[in-house]
Amino acid sequence: MKAYEHIFLYYFSGTGNAKMAAEWFRNESISRNIPCEIEAITEQTKVELPAKDTILLGFFSPTHGFNFPPIMLDFLFRFPRGKKADVFIVNTRAGMKMHKLFLPGLSGAAQYFAALILLLKNYKIVGMQPLDMPSNWISIHPALRDKVIVSIVNRCERIIKKFANKLFFGKRVFKAFWSFPFDLAILPIAFLYYFAGRFALAKTFYASNSCTNCGLCSKNCPVKAIETIDSRMFWSYNCESCMKCMSNCPENAIHTSHSYSIGFWIVLMSFVSPIFVNYFELWDIEFIEKSSSVFWIAEFSIEMLAFFIINIMAYRIFHFFMRFRIVSKFMEYTSLTRYWRNYNLKKTLKRMQKI
Ligand SMILES: Cc1cc2nc3c(=O)[nH]c(=O)nc-3n(C[C@H](O)[C@H](O)[C@H](O)COP(=O)(O)O)c2cc1C
Repeated sequence: MKAYEHIFLYYFSGTGNAKMAAEWFRNESISRNIPCEIEAITEQTKVELPAKDTILLGFFSPTHGFNFPPIMLDFLFRFPRGKKADVFIVNTRAGMKMHKLFLPGLSGAAQYFAALILLLKNYKIVGMQPLDMPSNWISIHPALRDKVIVSIVNRCERIIKKFANKLFFGKRVFKAFWSFPFDLAILPIAFLYYFAGRFALAKTFYASNSCTNCGLCSKNCPVKAIETIDSRMFWSYNCESCMKCMSNCPENAIHTSHSYSIGFWIVLMSFVSPIFVNYFELWDIEFIEKSSSVFWIAEFSIEMLAFFIINIMAYRIFHFFMRFRIVSKFMEYTSLTRYWRNYNLKKTLKRMQKI
């Protein structure tokens, strides 16, 4: 058995999956008499590691858009350089279940990028484990049924126990590489999500008329992305769509506006985008070849900038019109999240009397 003197676990979690996985790992280490500390990361978290090399460090985070969410990546960039200490990475993904078949999510760049950062900081990677917890992406599908959630969670607990024990016995586990070809194929989507997609998603949230302004969502938001503007909640670009606000709102007032999102994309694609295409057709600068990568990068950057500005302006207009009851009612009744099951792991397990 590898003699780890201390284990430190760091996690970020929107709806409780990554947190629960970290807790299972801690329970396993405590049952083996290895002291283990667990910490939820924030944008301010600073770490000072003890000067021992017999420590094991673990990072737990959900996968967002085939990558780790920015809050976790920033934390890894800020993390102190190591002296060859052992580290492992767990990314929780969107697990599903069809009849008896457990379906995995997709990691994309999440594991490899995090591992690269840690390697460059002189750490020794001993474990890379994806974990298919119940999918929490309730903006795009209803939460799974309670029974399915419990069955997925039980399976994941067994996986983490096995994973932890392998590491305690000095073995290395690199399950993340099993999906390498798929991960590689979806890298462009991970790139697009990181530079554009997540900002678009951030601007799809709103609080309906049932909101009592209790402030719980903005208080608990891990990236402080929710402010009150004109007595109504407003989501800034800092939002990581982690679903914490939606999953914990006591009034069930936070939704994804599907009709607004569809309307926004129709307008963007039918009117705004053609203007840009025509503009670039006419764009003629003597010293830049139209087929060159410089031209492509310039075009992409300008389009991205325009997208950011239009997205902010459209959300502001949306926010303004939400003060009118007829508009807010329309938005609410056309939000699929109003009809879908919500996802909150702890609440589900309590309901099912598993904790
Ligand atoms: C905005 C968003 C993006 C997501 N992207 C992915 C993804 O790329 N791949 C995947 O397998 N799961 C994805 N998921 C699902 C979550 O990673 C998964 O449910 C995770 O276990 C949630 O962990 P948490 O409860 O700790 O936040 C996404 C979820 C959200 C909300």
